[in-house]
Amino acid sequence: MSYAQKIHISSKVCFVQAYAKINLTLDVLGRRTDGYHELATVMQTIDLHDTICLTATDDNRVHMICTTPELSNDENLAARAAYLVRERLACKQGVRIELYKRIPTTAGLGGGSSDAAAVLLALEQWWQLQLSPSDLLNMAASLGSDVPFFLIGGLALCEGRGERVTPLARYWPSSMRWLLLLKPAISVSTKAVFRNLPASDYTDGTHSRAASTALNASHIPDVDHLHNGLERGVLERYPEIAAAREDLLKAGARFVRLSGSGPTLFAPFAELACAFQVQQQLQAQGYEVYLSRAINPNAGSVCFF
Ligand code: C5P
Repeated sequence: MSYAQKIHISSKVCFVQAYAKINLTLDVLGRRTDGYHELATVMQTIDLHDTICLTATDDNRVHMICTTPELSNDENLAARAAYLVRERLACKQGVRIELYKRIPTTAGLGGGSSDAAAVLLALEQWWQLQLSPSDLLNMAASLGSDVPFFLIGGLALCEGRGERVTPLARYWPSSMRWLLLLKPAISVSTKAVFRNLPASDYTDGTHSRAASTALNASHIPDVDHLHNGLERGVLERYPEIAAAREDLLKAGARFVRLSGSGPTLFAPFAELACAFQVQQQLQAQGYEVYLSRAINPNAGSVCFF
């Protein structure tokens, strides 16, 4: 678009929630020629969320303010999403982005990607942008492999780099009603995890396909298919994460998996009382632990004043 678009704004302020995700399965199929890895992964949105407040300004700039000071800069994916929309539409509308961070960062929970998708969705509604779904998806994919998933959310099979998103049925096993998330006190670089992944950890996508088929038929996937191809390498390389996994199991979790490239581990529970008791025990041991649940986000997460 070569002309400066006129943006229609009837409200000064727009709030949007940005939800985290877990990876129920993650098959790494192989390394691609572009350096990325071909994936098949089943992701589910969870109710742990960041809150973003967008305010219209008259100074034609994007200001990024975050409760995590090191994220208060233009490199923040939320700011990059706003810059991308302005560039794509050749518009200069100023916006202040205030980001209340609750999702732990570089944790395998998709916090940064979700913030970026939330800004895209909010600006689309707030600025009444005439973007086609594929325009929005392409913009999201250019910001990061997980960003397209967060435009849709819920339960989905994501393939390719992660950007090919197929929504699955609205089903979540009752045995996984409550989700404990344990974030070990270390940061893990996704890039490094993929770089160090041996080909022996590649799979052919069987786990994600089988889990998708089961979930689409409202069946609990076989536990053997709840596989994360990055987990073995991450547990071997980071003893703190392996120890945290042992502590979760000792505290009463029956099943523990790494989310994405970690370091966050998740453990599902059927009953709140059990989940809460395990959370309290692990918090007493000094761990950062969140009690969450699967969620299907909807347009209500954007609100205007
Ligand atoms: O796409 P995103 O910027 O979130 O990915 C971060 C890094 O993770 C990439 O630079 C790449 O090294 C690795 N990655 C990968 N294959 C994917 C997704 C991410 O190798 N499908």
